[in-house]
Amino acid sequence: MEPTDTEMLTESSILERIRPAVRSEKQYRVRSYPAIEAKLNQNESPYDLPESLKQEVLSEMVSVPFNRYPDDQPGDLESALAEMLGVNPEGILVGNGSNELTHTLGLALMADGKVLLPSPLFALFRSVVRLFGGQLTEITCLEDLSFDMDRIITTAGQLDPDLTVIATPNNPTGLEVNHSDLQRLVETARGFVLVDEAYVEFSEQPDAISLMQKHPNVLIMRTLSKGFGLAGLRIGYLIGRPSVISELRKARLPFMIGELAKRTAIRLLNEPALVQRRVREMQESVDKLYEALNRFGLQPVPSKANFVLFKAPTRPADFVEMMAGHGVLIRDMSGYSELRDYVRVCAGTSAENKAFLDALTKILDH
Ligand SMILES: Cc1ncc(COP(=O)(O)O)c(C=O)c1O
Repeated sequence: MEPTDTEMLTESSILERIRPAVRSEKQYRVRSYPAIEAKLNQNESPYDLPESLKQEVLSEMVSVPFNRYPDDQPGDLESALAEMLGVNPEGILVGNGSNELTHTLGLALMADGKVLLPSPLFALFRSVVRLFGGQLTEITCLEDLSFDMDRIITTAGQLDPDLTVIATPNNPTGLEVNHSDLQRLVETARGFVLVDEAYVEFSEQPDAISLMQKHPNVLIMRTLSKGFGLAGLRIGYLIGRPSVISELRKARLPFMIGELAKRTAIRLLNEPALVQRRVREMQESVDKLYEALNRFGLQPVPSKANFVLFKAPTRPADFVEMMAGHGVLIRDMSGYSELRDYVRVCAGTSAENKAFLDALTKILDH
């Protein structure tokens, strides 16, 4: 029935105009705690950029006119990334963090499309598929929490999804997908296969670039938030065939990348030794955390990323609270149906890792 002029518009009736796909979602929130000594809950790098490098970029920023728009797309950063990777710059698309690029894939591939996701997978993908109204099929993991690649490949063949997503190394498990399995998937799928390589710097397996060069359906997603330690400035990118990237550019908003983030990223790409050293330090931390968690009998999952998933000694939510009480922030993973008993800790500085292990010892001793 049409509302009459005299009827008041109520708040609940106006909320009904918002798409149900949006209304049924939960807002993505990361809880913050005061008085935290060791922040190990978001898989960030524990190392900030050297102050001298920050100063260099900031002094350049003084001459950047803040009243002017940045470039519609950051072509100089795309070129710098392409040079580092040895690929065509037209095959690089930079986003405001890789999270933001999932919306471009939403517009281009998920709305009205079929999407195949393994589980457990970085939770944002699932929510983006739902938000864009994609038809979601999920394939649960094997007992060791690795992706069930045989089922994923068979399903990709039968269902013919427009997009299949694989993350390797995967978050939240830290497990990798075998390159030959990835190749089988890419050869079977007729739609796109997105390989999220957020943690590629920590992996010793070949990356997916050679697969992308052989197969037009491969898209790779990367970020400077992890190994490069730039989570606060928000730079992520896609690598694909130039013809594919050129179509995806049509779904982009212009001016998504600010000058500060762009300039810092370009400057950081000139510091491969710094990045490698820090990645190695994070890998050493992960090895030490894994060994300690194993000694405590907490069944850590062997990780090729900068974090370790393990079984909480009590209810995960309670354990996270107890750790926070000792100044250590870790992440409750029990929201993933396959990870009801699990929590995740990421590599910190040596002081943060020590704070984590001290807190764990105190809690287990009680
Ligand atoms: C697998 C995976 N992909 C993407 C991201 C998001 O990275 P960004 O900071 O570039 O949005 C994360 C962050 O935790 C991640 O774990």
